[in-house]
Amino acid sequence: MSELIAYIAPQNVLPALSDCLLILNSNSTHLHVQQAEDESAIQRHYVLQMPVQRLVFPPVNCHWLIAALSNDPHQSALPKLGSLVVTAVGLCTNHLDLARALDIALAASLSDLVAALLQRHLHDGATLADAIIRTNAQLKGDVSYVCHQKGQTQFMFASCMGRPLFVGLESGLRQICCSNLRLIRQRANQVYAMATGDIVRFGLGVPSLILPDGSEQALHMPAVNKSQNIPHYMLEEIEAQPETLAILVQKYSAGYSLPLPLRGKLAGIRRLTLLACGSSYHAALVASYWFETLAGIPVQVGLSSEYVDRDIHADPYDLIVAISQSGETADTIAALQHVQNLSSARTVALTNSPGSTLTTLVDHTLLTHSGAEQSVSATKSLTAQLLMLYVLAFSLGEARGKLSKDELAAVQQEMLTLPTAVAETLQLGKDIRRWAGMLHRKKNLFVIGRNTHYPVAMEGAFKLREVAYQHAAAFPAGELKHGPITLVNDELPVIVCLPWNQQAQKMLDDLKSVRANRGEIFILSNGNIASVDGTSVIRMPNGLTNLSPIIYTVALQMLAYYCAVLSGNDIDAPRNLAKTKTVELA
Ligand code: G6P
Repeated sequence: MSELIAYIAPQNVLPALSDCLLILNSNSTHLHVQQAEDESAIQRHYVLQMPVQRLVFPPVNCHWLIAALSNDPHQSALPKLGSLVVTAVGLCTNHLDLARALDIALAASLSDLVAALLQRHLHDGATLADAIIRTNAQLKGDVSYVCHQKGQTQFMFASCMGRPLFVGLESGLRQICCSNLRLIRQRANQVYAMATGDIVRFGLGVPSLILPDGSEQALHMPAVNKSQNIPHYMLEEIEAQPETLAILVQKYSAGYSLPLPLRGKLAGIRRLTLLACGSSYHAALVASYWFETLAGIPVQVGLSSEYVDRDIHADPYDLIVAISQSGETADTIAALQHVQNLSSARTVALTNSPGSTLTTLVDHTLLTHSGAEQSVSATKSLTAQLLMLYVLAFSLGEARGKLSKDELAAVQQEMLTLPTAVAETLQLGKDIRRWAGMLHRKKNLFVIGRNTHYPVAMEGAFKLREVAYQHAAAFPAGELKHGPITLVNDELPVIVCLPWNQQAQKMLDDLKSVRANRGEIFILSNGNIASVDGTSVIRMPNGLTNLSPIIYTVALQMLAYYCAVLSGNDIDAPRNLAKTKTVELA
């Protein structure tokens, strides 16, 4: 995934860019910089060494720059320098139509395309702020960009319509705009997280929001809490979830819906297949319940590595959704190609990586916008997948006439409460650390749940195996009596996901057999259940129904993380595992 970094300051900003590269510690090797150099604008391309080293830049006076860090050596993403400097990231779904209308090369980069649109409006007499408003009305898809007009040395503009951007104030009067949450939290003292549709002017004065009528409003920039030193990417990514989810919630509750070409097809879909591996597979399993309930559609979930060897019977009324954080997992790509070879079903890639291989193979792409994930274990990308699948489920429900207007409003309304519920779940860290103290030495554990919380239990057990190296097995609570109960004794703790819903009473009944066999019980629940001897309860936040699996997932992420810390494991790069990040170029 490419990262975007822009700086403007009264002093040379190149050393600050070098610091940013060290913080990002990305595996991307190509850095394209458009920068001021002694009153003129020039472009530079750097090939970075791995591991990332401090870059030594030429001793020039550079008081603004816009940089793109990616794995693409040809990201001649950088337009020929006219009066505008633009760097854009994301996916424009009407790229070809716009390129034709502008009479520029169809293969023009996204930055070239945005620059050409802006230039045209400037040529017609618009100010840069107006040109951005008009350009954004023409762009379809998820496109975020930063632009700077030569001669305007005091400021630049950031426009967010997809990939999240953050604007921050650093010490030394530097102002930064970047696409990486971790970077902005480390660099800036005050930060504004741009929402979809925001246009921000930043530079040598107070940053301001450009309103739809072109007027400006000073930005409220909350201070960054730097008191916490976050020791691992995994924890940082777990803690980023209220923000990463809020970005998606904002995007899908502010009148913006799924891309039109996909929305237009939903009413005709008769069956759904979700394909994925690892944590993404668990997201698919949780979502399968939503698709049945909210969209009333038959759904099957395929584990990619298994799906490739199955006989597929799909037709053009089938929708195949391939889910992958990286968009590069070979099994999921193979599963998608398998179904494409055997049918003409419609296909969707649901991924955190715009431009990844998966996105090049499908009819439609849905991005999770959770920012680069450094830890091998999927955390923030997983909860973002869940939320995007929820959006897809209620959009299908709406298109198929399964949800009434009121029902649709209620399921959308629930999204608004999610970021706060996740933030409240993170507050339970101290209690969960206490559990980890009791659990991290246990060789075997069970994690159980019912309904949507059974795949949550699967994900919790997966995380305990993945980072804590503990043998954890997940079961639907109702299945305990059909075999697994033979293993329960005072050496086998049972972790229970017990949201207070229609299945709660059945869950309590399931637990009687665990107690009867002296199994120690650890319950996550928003119900009014007391901790007693042999049963420890952590009280989960109230208020969620459909989206409750997301907060139980977050609680189990924390449990696995703290168990792994107490065992002294390599948290971000567990043994024998590797994260697929981006396409490696030959
Ligand atoms: C690896 C990782 C898992 C991840 C899985 C799928 O196995 O260890 O944590 O969930 O890949 O990755 P994807 O990028 O396709 O979501």
